[in-house]
Amino acid sequence: MPLDLEFEQHFIRVTELAAVAAAKTMGNGDREQADHVAVEAMRTELDTVEMAGRIVIGEGERDEAPMLYVGEEVGALKGRDDAQGVDIAVDPLEGTNLCATGAPGAIAVLAAAERGGLLHAPDIYMDKIVVGPTARNANVHLDAPVAENLRSIANAYERDVDELTIVVLERERHRQLITDIRATGARIRLIGDGDLSAGIEAAIRGSGVHAAIGIGGAPEGVVTAAAMRCLGGEIYARLTPLNDHHRKRIEEVGIDEPDRLYTAADLAPGKEILFCATGVTGSRMLDGVRFFGGGHRTSTLFMSLTQQTIRFVDTIHREDLGTPVHFS
Ligand code: FBP
Repeated sequence: MPLDLEFEQHFIRVTELAAVAAAKTMGNGDREQADHVAVEAMRTELDTVEMAGRIVIGEGERDEAPMLYVGEEVGALKGRDDAQGVDIAVDPLEGTNLCATGAPGAIAVLAAAERGGLLHAPDIYMDKIVVGPTARNANVHLDAPVAENLRSIANAYERDVDELTIVVLERERHRQLITDIRATGARIRLIGDGDLSAGIEAAIRGSGVHAAIGIGGAPEGVVTAAAMRCLGGEIYARLTPLNDHHRKRIEEVGIDEPDRLYTAADLAPGKEILFCATGVTGSRMLDGVRFFGGGHRTSTLFMSLTQQTIRFVDTIHREDLGTPVHFS
């Protein structure tokens, strides 16, 4: 059976539970605690799913992470050759700082594919340009000057460059990039964290975002690629090692062409890609977890490449059946 039909409800529950666990810690200032509870919730729920799952993007390598480390087998049928094999990329809490400070935009995320369907990228940085379907065939190149890329994107949208909005992570390393974008007249939305959500926004017409550009996490790049496969957008990316340790990590994961330029189909080559994200703290894309007397409510985005569906799932989780439910 296709992955999405078999596991949709299960994976939605996985990100829902991770989001609820993280949201309970919202604003307590402890990003590690927020991440830890999300990881635990995700791991516990993944182990109830009837699959032979394998983490390909997770919380780090085996010696760094006690749970959801890269290579860890998960699922109720782990290790069984006769079971459905699933490769899984998780980011139990994307935007740990956002959750710890109660800022908008934190999400719990999972992407899945058949075996070999998601690149095992090392946990280092990646240079990325993410655009939506409108600009996916524009002449965008990571090595081109940003002004040229923005002109290509503007042409694809049949508008002027100063009518574009570009999302950039607010980091010292992006000082020149920000100067260059400003010089073109394009608008910039600087964000504190969360370039994965920014990439998804760029692929949604009407979000007001036309591209997400800059250096962020490589694991987030792979998960963004999975989302772009489902949304018809594109990511142009290249690993960006900052030191010898990073270069060693690239070698260790078996990547023999460290300067390679990747697209979504390279980072997430699977035929059966699934993407699932639940809001932790609210954003324009997804509401955060809302707690009420007797329960809580979650908002999830579930996308399937094979079904070509994009589903918004609104769930009320009741803890006390005696308490009335508010539908507003
Ligand atoms: P975490 O949730 O792991 O903290 O990641 C948030 C994030 O902003 C990502 O969206 C982004 O890819 C990465 O961090 C950027 O890394 P850095 O904060 O080191 O610039």
